[in-house]
Amino acid sequence: MAATGSAVGLGNIWKFPYVAGSNGGGAFVLVYLVCILLIGVPVMMAEVLIGRRGRQSPINSVRDVVLESGADSRWRHVGWVGVSAGMLILSFYAVIAGWALSYIFAMASGELAGVNGDSAAAVFAGLLADPVRLIFWQSLFMLLCVLVVVGGVKKGLGVAVEILMPLLFFMLLLLLGLSYFQGNFAAAWHFLFSFNIELLTWRGVLEAMGQAFFTLSIGMGAIMAYGAYMPQKVNIGKTILIVAFFDSLVAIVSGLIIFSIVFGTQGIEPSAGPGLMFISLPVAFANMSGGLLIGCAFFVLVSIAAWSSAISLLEPCVAWLIEAKDVGRTNANLLLAGFAWLLGIGSVLSFNVWSDIQLAGFTFFDFLDFLTTNIMLPLSGLLIALFVGYAVKPEFINLEMDDISPIMLKVWRVSLRYIAPVAISAVFVMGIYDKFFS
Ligand code: PFF
Repeated sequence: MAATGSAVGLGNIWKFPYVAGSNGGGAFVLVYLVCILLIGVPVMMAEVLIGRRGRQSPINSVRDVVLESGADSRWRHVGWVGVSAGMLILSFYAVIAGWALSYIFAMASGELAGVNGDSAAAVFAGLLADPVRLIFWQSLFMLLCVLVVVGGVKKGLGVAVEILMPLLFFMLLLLLGLSYFQGNFAAAWHFLFSFNIELLTWRGVLEAMGQAFFTLSIGMGAIMAYGAYMPQKVNIGKTILIVAFFDSLVAIVSGLIIFSIVFGTQGIEPSAGPGLMFISLPVAFANMSGGLLIGCAFFVLVSIAAWSSAISLLEPCVAWLIEAKDVGRTNANLLLAGFAWLLGIGSVLSFNVWSDIQLAGFTFFDFLDFLTTNIMLPLSGLLIALFVGYAVKPEFINLEMDDISPIMLKVWRVSLRYIAPVAISAVFVMGIYDKFFS
């Protein structure tokens, strides 16, 4: 449940639809699903394995597994790439989660009552143009994360996730039914599932792979940190397949809801970018009876989904700081969340005051997003696949995977040794070339 809570978040409901929309839909979705199954699931299993074997923070678990396996000591760096990506992601994740928090109140106060495509876009633009409001909501979200992580992840988060995740799912199904009758469902279906290969670029393939990593929370140590709490008798393969299944389902259902509304409403484009969810959904809520209340509840659940994900971004670094530097839990939290908060201000300003400032052709927010999702995560995933595929003692692997059928074990090892490394490297090289040199 906690792993599902980490995986299901803004990446599914907010990011997947807009990245799929910017990349033309169909073919992107197919590549994304293939990446989840062929690369994501095997790498996620490998991450859990390291965490459960090491039973500490990701950085120290990797270190111990390296030592116990007698592997080259340079493998220790595997943990670092991921954990630093986690901090960078947390910085902008809190800003977007702040948007969701602010929409709870925009719904409740009636600011979004009766909006259409254009006026919903204007309300959203008004929020982005106001750094003070953005920083207020970002800070509130960060505070909520610190409160949970200070108290320890296991109790609070476990309970919350067990109740709230099914509720979120129920709400999504409700919205799906609604968008079926009120939006243009057929166009949404066609957009997401028709295989329009001509719209897909190598950069799009790289983004699909990055999105697969981002959405499953892999490559960052989050899943490794949770693996450290996983009971020995639980089957890693089955658990991860279930998490990946629900994660993909939430993404696809969110996409169907959002695009049904987009194609049924004047004034919203599928390629609208990061604002897509915040513009299209209020239009749907405005058109239904009791919509403001339902909208309010929906953004509460999105905020909770974001919360359970953000916590898993903070926990690995906090756990490490406590173990390695003997810092207390509260201070470790304040230090790291403070750092992510400060960096997040850069993302806040990139939507207004700094919108003209470019780094390698990106705004600050887009730069951090591209750097982490499309470069650091695939790199970290590649290292994890190679490490578990080649360097970890076979005895440990057999011990952790003794409840998996021999055929599945073979498939998993082939994927870690050959399929994932080759696919990640190829997509990585082609995608970067496409982005910067073509
Ligand atoms: N998987 C989360 C989402 O889809 O929103 C984001 C995330 C959480 C990424 C935790 C990484 C992580 F460690």
